[in-house]
Amino acid sequence: MKSIVAQELVKSYGKGGVKALDGLSLDVEEGTVLGLLGPNGSGKTTTVRVLATLLTPDSGSATVAGIDVLKHPDEVRKVIGLSGQYAALDETLTGWDNLTMFGRLYHLNSSGAKKRAEELLEQFSLTDAARRPIRTYSGGMRRRLDLAASLIVKPKVLFLDEPTTGLDPRGRMEMWGVIDELVKGGVTLLLTTQYLEEADQLADSIAVIDSGKVIARGSADELKNQVGGERLEITVEANQIADATRLVEQVTGVKPSVDHGIRKISAPVSNGSASLIQVLRLLDEAKIHPLDIGLKRPSLDDVFISLTGHVAEVVVGLEVGGKNAAKRK
Ligand SMILES: Nc1ncnc2c1ncn2[C@@H]1O[C@H](COP(=O)(O)OP(=O)(O)OP(=O)(O)O)[C@@H](O)[C@H]1O
Ligand SMILES: [Mg+2]
Repeated sequence: MKSIVAQELVKSYGKGGVKALDGLSLDVEEGTVLGLLGPNGSGKTTTVRVLATLLTPDSGSATVAGIDVLKHPDEVRKVIGLSGQYAALDETLTGWDNLTMFGRLYHLNSSGAKKRAEELLEQFSLTDAARRPIRTYSGGMRRRLDLAASLIVKPKVLFLDEPTTGLDPRGRMEMWGVIDELVKGGVTLLLTTQYLEEADQLADSIAVIDSGKVIARGSADELKNQVGGERLEITVEANQIADATRLVEQVTGVKPSVDHGIRKISAPVSNGSASLIQVLRLLDEAKIHPLDIGLKRPSLDDVFISLTGHVAEVVVGLEVGGKNAAKRK
């Protein structure tokens, strides 16, 4: 059963404005996680807002939990949770107050709202901070509270828009743990991210989007295979490059590429570990002791570059210290 289906969504902001969605289609199997992976401005938030009934598309259709998003938005709202770039939390109130207030908004009675707040604060390790105003919370605590607020009424389908952007590595790991637990509980999750490794870590299936369209779809492994399989890489002393290159070619049957600067020889292999062992044996017989040897799988960064012809902006941001670098801090 598909929990989320989007067909040919188109959305422009304003007259002659940017086409944020340009025929976007996707689907998510019930109980699985789809990672919507794309750089800044590719249409991730717009997609989530349409699916969560906050925005009407110009054309196209979508269902969530089998309910038509355009025809029955109120019904859809009852079964979804939404968290991310929306921050509806009240800074001056405590974590406890925020959650009980949300509970009342979702029509829980007073004791029901308190009980649910208690459970969620516990689940997200916020019990100790429950009575503090949330303006005193760290970024990670805030994100956890924001996520908790989207779970007041246990949703069937959850949308998380960049749940870890701006968190430090520890905060990110904690958030990954929390999300993992939620998914084990059976929720269907659509998660947007610009972190390639986050999609790799959390998603069963990844849709890569660029300029408002899905440009590739598959598991992390499938996407990586699409770019190319494993490569054998070895680094040797400069005076051994020629001999070692010959041995690698003998085993792999392909002319290896050689980077003399870093003394690295690399060649694609189909049967990774068998080739690795064979090369090691031949090198040993030839008394060549590699400085480094290993099998390398393409990373999702390789995937992104190969699919879009440009580096994911988050990487560019890292290099030039653009707006993403600030956003990540
Ligand atoms: N309210 C708006 N008015 C006008 N243009 C908008 C509006 N919201 C988004 N856009 C434009 O639509 C495009 C898609 O934006 P969207 O926010 O969906 O991207 P995103 O993938 O979520 O980006 P980010 O990673 O920065 O959150 C961008 O070009 C953006 O400038
Ligand atoms: Mg966004």
